[in-house]
Amino acid sequence: MTFLFNSDARRGAIFADAFAKELPDVLFTMDAATVDPDAVRYLMTWTAPEDLARYRNLEILFSIGAGVDQFRLDSVPEQVKIVRTIEEGIVRMMQEYVALAVLALHRSLPAYLAQQRAGEWRDVPQLQAGSRRIGVLGLGQLGQAVLDRLKPFGFPLAGWSRSPRQIEGVTCHHGELGLEEMLAASDILVCLLPLTEETRGFLDARLFAKLPKGAALVHTGRGPQLDHKALVAALDSGHLSAAMIDVTDPEPLPACHPFWRHPKIVLTPHVASVTQPVTAALAVIENIRRHRDGLDPIGLVDRSRGY
Ligand code: NDP
Ligand code: OXD
Repeated sequence: MTFLFNSDARRGAIFADAFAKELPDVLFTMDAATVDPDAVRYLMTWTAPEDLARYRNLEILFSIGAGVDQFRLDSVPEQVKIVRTIEEGIVRMMQEYVALAVLALHRSLPAYLAQQRAGEWRDVPQLQAGSRRIGVLGLGQLGQAVLDRLKPFGFPLAGWSRSPRQIEGVTCHHGELGLEEMLAASDILVCLLPLTEETRGFLDARLFAKLPKGAALVHTGRGPQLDHKALVAALDSGHLSAAMIDVTDPEPLPACHPFWRHPKIVLTPHVASVTQPVTAALAVIENIRRHRDGLDPIGLVDRSRGY
């Protein structure tokens, strides 16, 4: 029984150690060229290899990230479980990034950076945290975790998901009407939605128009969810005040793209959160044990929803 790891060797070495210690009966390999394809029961990768079909006995396809939009779900054989990575390293890093972004936008950092470049020494009127409303799109593992990390600052917190949720200290919304309500009351909007056909192009001119004047955006979902032209137009008209953008389409952006030099945009190169191999290896091992015990792995993807 073989686990094939198709990612970088540095992370692979950490996984190999963990497998040797925790699951010695599973052969761990990073070498697709020499592996016996019929022995491969588990494959961990970012993108699915072209020759996925050669692994005829594959039971679980693990995504090395939290998202699975990089897979063509319908090209993965029906009997293969698709599992995304849920591990404490990803969660912690996303909490840090969104806290950083929300605080930067709350304290007008993009405006101060622009002033510094222009040699201006001038204060920007400041709201107290209790008057800065935060809305989070997506109340999954990451949306909930960032809301939890934001609690001590005293921002009024809200979130939106497909199905109804109850989270202490967070006003939870769902459905179309819930979205309208949350957008109208979000001074900083954070996107942590998975990329599906329903969320492609979601952050568009219509959505921005529903936010209060002066609102700001944190985008850490997926690039194709954001209409770049609509964001630039909303920032240039003054309807939105600033944006912190971690994901774009394409990645990286071409050199001439307006996001690079826009004074109201802070751009980071898809680094909000990165799978941490020590904790991820333990999460994968735990999932293999669950699978062997007849339980669903944690992070099992619902193919009909696409996440
Ligand atoms: P989850 O699957 O745990 O949560 C997704 C949430 O989005 C759920 O609350 C779900 O609603 C909601 N949702 C999905 N589709 C819709 C919809 N059409 N309408 C309303 N709500 C919807 O995902 P994670 O929290 O683990 O991750 C979210 C995304 O973050 C990933 O898919 C990935 O794209 C991105 N990410 C980005 C990283 C980065 O570095 N920038 C790193 C890691 C992840 P419900 O609860 O009802 O199911
Ligand atoms: C992920 C990512 O999905 O890094 O984990 O974007």
